[in-house]
Amino acid sequence: MRIFPTEQAFDEAAARCIYDCIGAKKNVVVGLSTGRTTKNMHNILARMLCDRPLDLSEVTFFGQDEIGGVPREYWGACYTMLKTELLDALPLREDQFLMLPTASDDYRRDCQAFTAELERRGGVDLLVLGLGENGHLGFNQPGTPFGSTAWASTLSPELDARVRKDLSLGADASLCGVTMGLKDVMHARRLLLVAKGDHKAAMVKEILQGPVTEAVPASILQLHPSCEYYLDARAASLL
Ligand code: GLP
Repeated sequence: MRIFPTEQAFDEAAARCIYDCIGAKKNVVVGLSTGRTTKNMHNILARMLCDRPLDLSEVTFFGQDEIGGVPREYWGACYTMLKTELLDALPLREDQFLMLPTASDDYRRDCQAFTAELERRGGVDLLVLGLGENGHLGFNQPGTPFGSTAWASTLSPELDARVRKDLSLGADASLCGVTMGLKDVMHARRLLLVAKGDHKAAMVKEILQGPVTEAVPASILQLHPSCEYYLDARAASLL
């Protein structure tokens, strides 16, 4: 576990960790998360890769989750966030960026295809994970079975309401959280859990020191042989 005194130090160290991982393997497969925690980290990583370029020709980036039922150009879609925060600044081909779909007539089929494609590329080398205040990982909310594989879950009521408002969607529009399952997460060779801010402190303590239980999805990380935790001082304040 690494604890950083400031948000900036945290952002820079997390970006450096991903940079080093990309530099260590030519055909590396790297999973990313969106949200407030990772935005600046992505911007810093983009700058690092522009200032000191690495060979990215065989790298795969992917997103761990996506909002289903929205246009992928919606600013809140993980696809658009990852592109604007990081990937648009890099010399990548389309096929080097894999996402779960924002729209589908069969999420189950598309989730299976996504997981199979990651496997085909050699499996996940590094997966960066944000942490929900309720312990969620991706869109795997409390109660999600540890054995879950990629699936279309139910959005939290808060996010559901925010997306509907942003896009002026009616009650008939159907939204979901398309996400890697917890079993898929555990399958990655290396995990990097990132959390910053006072509002994450209680959950950080819970996932590190509490029981491993499906009621707290991120508690499963205690069982992963290679999970690193990067925290800022505020998120680590209750440890
Ligand atoms: C969201 C996303 C996750 C993200 C998490 C943390 O629900 N689906 O991918 O890791 O919440 O977000 P934040 O960093 O904004 O707290």
